[in-house]
Amino acid sequence: MEQLNRLWKKGQDFLGVKYPIMAGAMTWISNHRFVAAVSNTGGFGSLAAGSMPPEELEREIDKTFELTDKPFGVNLITISPNYKQHLELTVRKKVPFIIFAGSFPRASEVKIAKESGAKVIAFASNNSIARRMIDSGIDALMLEGSEAGGHIGHVSLIILLQQVLLAMDEVPIFVAGGIATGQLMAHLLLAGAAGVQMGTRFILTEECEVHPNFREAFRKARARDAIATPAVGSELNVVAVRALRNKGMSDFTDLQMELILKNRAGEISKKEAQFEVEKFWMGALRNAVHEGDVNRGSLMAGQSVGLVNKVQTLQELFDEMINDALGALKLAKKRLGP
Ligand SMILES: Cc1cc2nc3c(=O)[nH]c(=O)nc-3n(C[C@H](O)[C@H](O)[C@H](O)COP(=O)(O)O)c2cc1C
Repeated sequence: MEQLNRLWKKGQDFLGVKYPIMAGAMTWISNHRFVAAVSNTGGFGSLAAGSMPPEELEREIDKTFELTDKPFGVNLITISPNYKQHLELTVRKKVPFIIFAGSFPRASEVKIAKESGAKVIAFASNNSIARRMIDSGIDALMLEGSEAGGHIGHVSLIILLQQVLLAMDEVPIFVAGGIATGQLMAHLLLAGAAGVQMGTRFILTEECEVHPNFREAFRKARARDAIATPAVGSELNVVAVRALRNKGMSDFTDLQMELILKNRAGEISKKEAQFEVEKFWMGALRNAVHEGDVNRGSLMAGQSVGLVNKVQTLQELFDEMINDALGALKLAKKRLGP
């Protein structure tokens, strides 16, 4: 345990938590109860602002503060129609961590967030974004590989590790995308990561409030079932989403074609088309998570879905991650020899 403590001290100190294992924000899923449960168990919970009405986000933040005195973050989607109000109220509420996702924040927005006393984390899905984010003053980076569930970048974690984690040392770097075991966590910490973030594996915890159909689809799925949406042409500049293959995924291809034709005919602008795309995902994800529509809803999941098949409590998950990490460190030591 001593070695693991040494390896993840950077992450523990930065986040102020016992285990620098972050439950990534998941729209419609990461509510105040789940976030507080993760943080109270020793990990780091992140509220998903998604495209919530601002009053609802305000209530979620207040209730999270009521349920936990441990650190947590709010995940803001910079391309959400409510983003500006979300940022304003997150700053006003003095949430300890602000995590910028979606696209990247402006340097002025990073400054506003930091002036509230919050620590700022930004996603990087390639090395030039990582550089730009560090230069804009963020406090830590979240490297997320394209193996992840939800909206994804183009580059896999294995490449990002070499481009960013092993090459840059200015701020703590957390890593996400495809992580579901303590063994891999140990190796990522050895490579210099401050901690890890998971989404998919947390779906299979008892505290995570999703419809039983949604959870069962995750439990049964194989890694190759978590596919990325193809972009129809490049006109709409659509961000890919990784989710389990179902009818909803093919509906999305039809939607893209419909929007392209409308845009060509001058009926809608590109921006409006992009809003329609996001509206589609928000609705489809909600239908799957809350109504259990596993056919037409969106089952956003990472490839790590193939590595998880049992439902655990959060405490069991953290205990297993630690136990497996310790096993991996022991093995690494043996391989290195005296
Ligand atoms: C259902 C679902 C919804 C997600 N929603 C968001 C979100 O609102 N904001 C965000 O930054 N990331 C979102 N993510 C990404 C996760 O926070 C996390 O970074 C990702 O799941 C890590 O990869 P993994 O799925 O391989 O563990 C979502 C992921 C899933 C599976």
